[in-house]
Amino acid sequence: MKICVVGIGYVGLVTAGCLAEAGNNVICVDNDSDKITSLKNGEIPIYEPGLAEMVRHNEKLGRLHFTTELKGGIDNSLIIFLAVGTPAMPDGSADISAILSVAAGIGENLTDYRIIATKSTVPIGTYKKVTDIIKSKTEAPFDYVSNPEFLKEGAAVEDFMRPDRIIIGTTNPAVNEIMKQLYNPFMRRGNRIISMGPASAEMTKYAANTMLATRISLMNEISALCEKVGANVEQVRQGIGSDSRIGRSFLFPGVGFGGSCFPKDIRALIHTGAEYGVEMMMANSVRQVNINQQERFAKRVKDYFAGRENKTVLAVWGLSFKAKTDDVRESPAIYCISKFLDCKMKIKAYDPEANSAGSAALNGRIETFQNGYDALGDADALVILTDWQEFRNPDFELIKSKLKKPVIFDGRNLYDPPYLKKQRIEYHSIGRV
Ligand SMILES: NC(=O)c1ccc[n+]([C@@H]2O[C@H](COP(=O)([O-])OP(=O)(O)OC[C@H]3O[C@@H](n4cnc5c(N)ncnc54)[C@H](O)[C@@H]3O)[C@@H](O)[C@H]2O)c1
Repeated sequence: MKICVVGIGYVGLVTAGCLAEAGNNVICVDNDSDKITSLKNGEIPIYEPGLAEMVRHNEKLGRLHFTTELKGGIDNSLIIFLAVGTPAMPDGSADISAILSVAAGIGENLTDYRIIATKSTVPIGTYKKVTDIIKSKTEAPFDYVSNPEFLKEGAAVEDFMRPDRIIIGTTNPAVNEIMKQLYNPFMRRGNRIISMGPASAEMTKYAANTMLATRISLMNEISALCEKVGANVEQVRQGIGSDSRIGRSFLFPGVGFGGSCFPKDIRALIHTGAEYGVEMMMANSVRQVNINQQERFAKRVKDYFAGRENKTVLAVWGLSFKAKTDDVRESPAIYCISKFLDCKMKIKAYDPEANSAGSAALNGRIETFQNGYDALGDADALVILTDWQEFRNPDFELIKSKLKKPVIFDGRNLYDPPYLKKQRIEYHSIGRV
């Protein structure tokens, strides 16, 4: 099929690459001309496992094209995906100005039948706004599909290639069939396409993210109580995860969730609730617990060094909001580090992929290193904020030899407390005394 993807970020580039990999011809449109120039030169602007090879391969085969010209994308495609950003506004609502501006651009350039499919996470009712804008600018026929994306950063290509489900939100059976055809190559394990109306599709995305975030916040709340009552949250996690009604996913306690989706989507859902007079009490609590959890961890580190903050050097492992991505948007690591910097601590940080994004997010106020052990020299403690695989089994002797005093604050519960005790390392983790 001939496809256009507008907005070539984490979602857009993965969508475009995977659809091209399945044999489709894909035109990628972005209004960031630097990004398009880099992509044309084979430079992949984000880190996502497997993505760079796939994009370069499909570009070489002539199935992926990069441009800033929306018109060319519309003229030469049947389906136009919208994958532009929908960041949070100061009041928590989702900023859909990029979606509406692309919709206007589509309306102005539409001369023949097209399907407009939104992958971006958009507030419930956006389908009407996009449809109205396009209709106000053209007589040409089109159909609208809400097709929210559920990929996880760090495993985005894998998730797109083998999705748990594809949601197709349309009232037109013919469009439903075309979308099914497009997704069939990704359904070899069995059909996992779920069709519904566009409002339900838009709501499904918010409900899914809020549910996942709820599990994390519940475990984080339990972890705070575990610390007080002398229970071990990791044992509790295993104890409840073995219940088939509960399951094991998304039960890991830690320094809080972050990223470009959960925090903003929960705020947007709360805002939509308020607009319609429905108080989103669960979503509100999930958000509050998450803020508290980040604050609790940052405070624990700050309290430990109380009175000597300006003489404290912290080595930090991890800047991205989770492993296997360079994305630092709403990263708990960035939150905690800014709290440490506010009280004049010095930060020496290492992240396998997010050193430059993390340093930029903190306005260059941290020193970054190309190797985790190099960040430890002269530091008063090691603080772990992201669960990268390479942090899981480090050389503890080397850590001890480099730190001024062997102290680890672990916001991801990567290590076994009795083992660290044997190593004579003072170890502070989440929900385990
Ligand atoms: N990142 C994720 O893990 C994820 C997962 C599922 C859904 N989503 C949703 O998908 C959407 C995109 O997220 P993302 O993380 O890929 O965002 P992103 O910020 O990485 O990418 C957005 C891209 O859109 C481009 N853009 C903005 N306005 C444009 C315009 N008018 N015309 C053309 N291009 C324009 C930007 O230059 C950027 O390249 C959001 O709604 C997000 O909530 C994200």
